Amino acid sequence: MKLTIEPAHLSCEMNEGQSLLEAALAAGINMPRSCRNGTCRACMCRLEAGQIRYRIEWPGLSPDEKDEGWVLPCVAVPLGDVVLSAPSVRGFPDGAGV
Ligand code: FES
Repeated sequence: MKLTIEPAHLSCEMNEGQSLLEAALAAGINMPRSCRNGTCRACMCRLEAGQIRYRIEWPGLSPDEKDEGWVLPCVAVPLGDVVLSAPSVRGFPDGAGV
């Protein structure tokens, strides 16, 4: 499964059971995060395409936010290829792959 992060147009592979955040970090994509358990919302970004499910029952998002496409990548597991919109993600720390 492939994760793409726009608008920086970064992408990486996601393994079965990996959260979107874990896959991005494993690939060296520096996404914002803090708690990594779905409560602080530091990692919040928008799902542009694809489907996810949550590892936890109550991720820290309101129903409205979910309807608008907001997701918490630290606790979201992909069900297929996923495209996220995360304008604060500018590239790999070393500038490679941009
Ligand atoms: S890192 Fe805290 S909600 Fe994702």
